[in-house]
Amino acid sequence: MTPLPPRQPLKPRTPLVTPKGVERPAVAPRTPLAPRTPLAARTPAAPARPSVGTANVKGDDFTALCELVRQLCAVDLLQYKRNQMERRVRTWTERRGTPNLEEYGKILRKDPEELDAFLDRVTINVSHLWRHEDQFEVLRKKILPELAERKRLKIWSAGSSYGAEAYTIAAVARETIPTIPVEIVGTDLDKRMVARAREGYFTPEDARTSPKAVLTKHFEPRTDGGWQAKPELKRMVRFENGDLLRMAVPTARYDVVFCRNTVIYFTEEVRDALHERLVKALSPGGYLVVGTSERVSDPKGLGLTSPYHFIYQKS
Ligand SMILES: C[S@@+](CC[C@H](N)C(=O)[O-])C[C@H]1O[C@@H](n2cnc3c(N)ncnc32)[C@H](O)[C@@H]1O
Repeated sequence: MTPLPPRQPLKPRTPLVTPKGVERPAVAPRTPLAPRTPLAARTPAAPARPSVGTANVKGDDFTALCELVRQLCAVDLLQYKRNQMERRVRTWTERRGTPNLEEYGKILRKDPEELDAFLDRVTINVSHLWRHEDQFEVLRKKILPELAERKRLKIWSAGSSYGAEAYTIAAVARETIPTIPVEIVGTDLDKRMVARAREGYFTPEDARTSPKAVLTKHFEPRTDGGWQAKPELKRMVRFENGDLLRMAVPTARYDVVFCRNTVIYFTEEVRDALHERLVKALSPGGYLVVGTSERVSDPKGLGLTSPYHFIYQKS
């Protein structure tokens, strides 16, 4: 197996060390962990709290944009290491054709979808149910019916955040192949996300692109407008804390591996090595689903074909 190069990006200001002594890469934790305010109900956020290490940059365009984002959706980008976050923000706004951050802020105010896309790019735990619905349509119509002949399926949500992806997979499987046992394992670096995933609770915003009929069948509505996964879904999913860059990957264990919107924080070298390990974890004929802004750099070299957009199949 190719050894994984050390992960470089997004080291926190003060290294975060887990109880097991593993240094956490990624970003400093976002606090508080309250779910993002629903798009429809965004109100000004709580009074400004002191931002870590940003006093010297108050008043600049980057700080102003971060303040705006915090007001719009309570995500505080000033809690992230500035150099990396600022670079990500500026790269993104340039790519969107609006490098002037003040101008870009005006767009964010008016366009909730742009705000979502922006946060998807620059923050780390963002997720929601039926994210990139097209891929779940392929799962429903093509992949699960094809794999059902295996009689029992194992699916891995690698970088599962707070479980939206894993519960969506569970709901789609219940709909499509209700008699086939499907076990879904979600793993994430962030213990807080793993704890939250185990609860199976989702905000109204998490459900914004969910097909209503399927959502109401497999999730209980809550009085606050959120959704609680029903017991039959919870029995299908399991969540574990783990660093994808360090954990042992079992050979040929999974029928499908989802690894979406997680490798974007990695260097290309690290990403490619991780993809190689994920492919190793797939059984022959199994599928690797990547994010819609991601790709496997050498699919042929890894023995993959790409029968659907952003979905690869192992030969
Ligand atoms: C943007 S979320 C993606 C969630 C979900 N896959 C989706 O597409 O909606 C990325 C997740 O990857 C996790 N992550 C980042 N680096 C990781 C690593 N080295 N090992 C495991 N998880 C990691 C983060 O904690 C975060 O929850």
